[in-house]
Amino acid sequence: MAKSALDAYRGFNYEIAETLAPTWQRRRTDIERISAPVREWMLRELVPHPGDTLLELAAGNGDTGFEAAGLVGEKGRVIVSDFSPGMLDGARRIGAELGVANVDYRVLDAEKIELEDNSVDGVLCRFGYMLMADAAAALAETRRVLRPGGRLVLAVWGAPESNPFFALVGMKLVQRGHISPPEPPPAPGIFAMANAEYTAALLQEAGFGEVRTEEIPVYFVLPDADEYLKFVVDSAGPLAMALRALPDNEREAIDNDLKESLAPFKTEDGYRLPGVALCAVGA
Ligand SMILES: C[S@@+](CC[C@H](N)C(=O)[O-])C[C@H]1O[C@@H](n2cnc3c(N)ncnc32)[C@H](O)[C@@H]1O
Repeated sequence: MAKSALDAYRGFNYEIAETLAPTWQRRRTDIERISAPVREWMLRELVPHPGDTLLELAAGNGDTGFEAAGLVGEKGRVIVSDFSPGMLDGARRIGAELGVANVDYRVLDAEKIELEDNSVDGVLCRFGYMLMADAAAALAETRRVLRPGGRLVLAVWGAPESNPFFALVGMKLVQRGHISPPEPPPAPGIFAMANAEYTAALLQEAGFGEVRTEEIPVYFVLPDADEYLKFVVDSAGPLAMALRALPDNEREAIDNDLKESLAPFKTEDGYRLPGVALCAVGA
């Protein structure tokens, strides 16, 4: 991607986060129900110690960081950060409701982290790096702020064919001319880091000597077909923005088409769409 295109993308990525922050907060319970296996894997692989200082990047509602805060104890700290003030306001409110005391909230752009070199013991980033304009720069910044021996644990979305929740609506929007087909990496996007070898190589190039990846299955459980597009519109970044911009009749047509595509995922109680997160740990 040319520099001007990357800069334009940065602006759009920020606009997406600020626009979606209220619905992202409203959907918190759904998001955590789906993401729980990923959150648990990340915290297990981070191996945090009491007294550690941890950094969560692109934290959204901050739930991964809040759980980590319980693991580092009173003497430890977690910096819950996001580049979107709207997202961070939500995290601050949720943290207060949960009564989490050992958390600092910071507006931080992961591509240019305003922290000292070697200042944190571990970094968490769930479903963030693939959306960043320059994931390689963000990973190099992550390595810079991590103390020697510190771990980065991340999750991104796996391949489109394993993630129908995003792929079905994405394909439909492309077919109907509302968005362009995804560009190959390093262009950012929901599936930009889906390939395990590619993501492992990005971490190695950023200075992580030991890298391991693992695919973690998740499930998107929906009570009925109406809920599918509503949930996408509330939560799924660039797809949500494209859908929100459509006139009602076009959104309805897409909704009807998608209801047919959901048929293979029908269960007795609604729908169950499988998904796969690609998780990685770097040290
Ligand atoms: C899909 S949400 C994931 C939120 C949260 N980590 C979770 O798993 O629920 C992506 C988040 O990345 C944040 N983000 C995107 N680009 C960023 C950047 N360059 N620096 C920091 N945060 C960024 C967005 O504001 C948004 O909160």
